[in-house]
Amino acid sequence: KFEKLWLIFGVASLLVFLSVLGVSAFHHGHHASSWSELIDPEKVDETEPFDEPGLKKVEGKDWDYELVFVASAFSYQPNEVQIPLGSTVKIIATTKDVIHGFQIPGSNINMMLEPGYVSEYIATLNQAGEFLVLCNEYCGAGHHLMTSKIEVI
Ligand code: CUA
Repeated sequence: KFEKLWLIFGVASLLVFLSVLGVSAFHHGHHASSWSELIDPEKVDETEPFDEPGLKKVEGKDWDYELVFVASAFSYQPNEVQIPLGSTVKIIATTKDVIHGFQIPGSNINMMLEPGYVSEYIATLNQAGEFLVLCNEYCGAGHHLMTSKIEVI
């Protein structure tokens, strides 16, 4: 009997979880984040697109630019980048060593970078200014120094 109850409880909480996800996806509207392909964390430097970190213009996609970040203790590559105001950018990021964060305070952009995984986030940058990228996952002694800068101009 209890098993059945737990099953119902499990399904119910799953539904709640999914509807919360649905609501927040709807609320944020114009972008999405995801974990996708697996890569070899030891070969990040030789794996596309991480062999060339930075901003790249793309054609024929739903976004204008791809912005590739490689995180490693205790920095990001690139550590500074400029992006034209109003462009839609797909951020593609991974880590070469341990788990790092990728958060831009004041925006919805907040990803976890896990070794072996590619994290992606599509955002439209409608606000000019300088934005700090912060690591919000404790990654060692230099954690609090781990930042990058995105300049929207
Ligand atoms: Cu990287 Cu904290």
